[in-house]
Amino acid sequence: MRDWYKDAVFYEVSVRAFADSNGDGIGDLPGLTSRLDYLQDLGVDTLWLLPILPSPLRDDGYDVSDYFGVHPVYGTLEDYRQLVRQAHRRGLRIIAELIPNHTSDEHPWFRASRDPQHSEHATYRDWYVWSETDERYPDARIIFLDSERSNWTYDPLRGAYYWHRFFYHQPDLNYDNPEVQRMMLKVIQFWIDQGVDGIRVDAPAYLYEREGTNCENLPETHAYLKRLRAFVDAYAPGTMLLSEANQWPEEVRGYFGEGDEFHMNFHFPLMPRIFIALAKADRSPIEWILSRTPGLPACCQWGTFLRNHDELTLEMVTPEERRLMWDVYAPERRMRLNLGIRRRLAPLLDSDVRRIKLANSILLTLVGSPFLYYGDEIGMGDNIWLEDRDTVRTPMQWDNSPNAGFSTAPAESLYAPLIDDPAYGYQRVNVEAQLADPRSLLNWTRRALRVRRQHPAFGQGSMCLLAPDSPAVLAYVRQHPQETLLVLNNLSPDSQEVSLNVPDLEHPPVDLFTGKVLAHRPGAPLRLQLAGYAYRWFQSRPRAYGHITDELFCQAPNLARHDDG
Ligand code: GLC
Ligand code: CA
Repeated sequence: MRDWYKDAVFYEVSVRAFADSNGDGIGDLPGLTSRLDYLQDLGVDTLWLLPILPSPLRDDGYDVSDYFGVHPVYGTLEDYRQLVRQAHRRGLRIIAELIPNHTSDEHPWFRASRDPQHSEHATYRDWYVWSETDERYPDARIIFLDSERSNWTYDPLRGAYYWHRFFYHQPDLNYDNPEVQRMMLKVIQFWIDQGVDGIRVDAPAYLYEREGTNCENLPETHAYLKRLRAFVDAYAPGTMLLSEANQWPEEVRGYFGEGDEFHMNFHFPLMPRIFIALAKADRSPIEWILSRTPGLPACCQWGTFLRNHDELTLEMVTPEERRLMWDVYAPERRMRLNLGIRRRLAPLLDSDVRRIKLANSILLTLVGSPFLYYGDEIGMGDNIWLEDRDTVRTPMQWDNSPNAGFSTAPAESLYAPLIDDPAYGYQRVNVEAQLADPRSLLNWTRRALRVRRQHPAFGQGSMCLLAPDSPAVLAYVRQHPQETLLVLNNLSPDSQEVSLNVPDLEHPPVDLFTGKVLAHRPGAPLRLQLAGYAYRWFQSRPRAYGHITDELFCQAPNLARHDDG
């Protein structure tokens, strides 16, 4: 099916954290395969797997030591193919990771590159970015601010500095070297051969370095990414490429090219603004970033998310916005990391189910295809006493048995401790209990995903923001030839009286969750009461098929109509 990713709901899953099949305390591929029924029942379409390649695991597998295999703790290549087959059998798709920018310093290429005595030194000496001094590229920012002082590290064996945008043990590959360029095509080919439906490309913005620039989004980088796409289109047409460029919309636009680079890119700057809007009970931060969001080529789509496996990044906000985010959402120092916040969704929103549902309502109905992070569908907690981003990577909570049904290993040999505090502990927060409770967050998520699946306008429709009187109400219309959807979200704890002109609503709107028809006279303003933090999703048939003019729909001043088709 062409463009399947436009209607998809993605689920980001850590294989290590999901289910342990062999009792060694570490989640693995057969474990994930054994839980596919749960994911199918949840109603997600596509699983994005965090890295499972051989690795010393000093950056959870983003430090690769072999691109052509599976880390033995996660299983074998055959287990991987089995996962893909079993997923496909259930109509689920699989997205793998490509980590092109850097390897682990334990990768054999780097070992050969750094060591003049190594038998393969001549072959690999230029595979990484080496320099006599640590003064080149001074305009490149440091990303892992809490752990690194410089993007250069001295290697005594080689007697030179090597370049790294992330941890010092993750040397950047040298994309000026044609061998490196070719090798990464072989890597992507290998994973396509395992049957995957798409690839997330990690940290694509940093492939090349040039003096006098910040070494991000360079034309050389885009040229290579286009070559990668052309290769994939020729080799396995239909394979979706997803980019992780954490950039402002104007820069991100480049990663879609003319529809010849990535199919998808995450909308990083939108994410914190959903939290800011909630904190201020004011929709304007979301309006503002959407007004800066360009239209995309026809085959492209935004990827939206509330949380993921990293810290909630605050790179794409102003210093004042960052301050507000820290004050409201990370009052304790240990909750912060680099420029972000290392907490999960439920604790960020004080476990307030109304706010969690509201944030998800925005995620599931605004532009793009949404990504859920494993465990957030049951409101899992975090553990800020763990290091780095391990805070949000604890074992999945399946039931209230010892180890939460994650593993049969002794508790002390789990790769990370389970959450077992009074508020979020697995004894209380787990899949089994929530499946049995019709009012649980899990069952709400299942319902919401079912509703979304029935309405192509959510994934494919145009989008236009409305301007209700109250700034706390975020309202928009999603339009598709078959239907018009109207969504209202109340960002405030106080109830709101809404009166809205929605000229296209000739047919009375039907509530998508309850099936109830809202009393409404065509031509008259739509009137309704929204309880604190309430959301409403309505459907109405459009008055006329086809194009509806901007004037009719965009009442908010200075807002472009957002057409993602
Ligand atoms: C990406 C990953 C992150 C990793 C980094 C370095 O940002 O999401 O987890 O640490 O790349 O590979
Ligand atoms: Ca295991």
